[in-house]
Amino acid sequence: MLFIHIIFVLLSFISFVARVALSELKPEILTLKAFKIVPHVIDTLLLVSGISLVVRGDWIESGEYNWIISKVMILLAYIGLGVFTMRSTGARRWAGFAGAIACYGYILSVAITKQGFL
Ligand code: HEM
Repeated sequence: MLFIHIIFVLLSFISFVARVALSELKPEILTLKAFKIVPHVIDTLLLVSGISLVVRGDWIESGEYNWIISKVMILLAYIGLGVFTMRSTGARRWAGFAGAIACYGYILSVAITKQGFL
């Protein structure tokens, strides 16, 4: 399951960066139905794979779940900044993009070190 989680971690990042690049370079492609469905499928499966890792591991029983709460909180910020990025233009969009990438990097470091901010 960890392998599947990592696949969706990568796919989610690629799909976000690709959508930002396409909206700058070829925005008409984003109106295709696939671009409205596939990113949500990827992100839902990322969440489902993460939740199943929590359920299957002994994180809750061992009390070592603070990093997971941190991770989910930054994930919400990542989602919010991602939506903001896709909906804004110019400097605001790039500020949102930089913030989203920073959140993603922080989620990665929390996931690897199992050390959150809580
Ligand atoms: C952008 C979102 C996410 C990223 C970038 C991410 C990244 C990662 C990475 C790189 C690992 C492997 C860490 C390692 O063992 O060295 C990992 C493990 C894990 N992730 Fe995520 N993850 C994300 C979302 C989630 C969510 C939403 C949850 C749960 C609600 C979750 C729960 C877990 C758990 C429990 C593990 C540890 C599995 C284990 O070692 O038993 N992740 N994540």
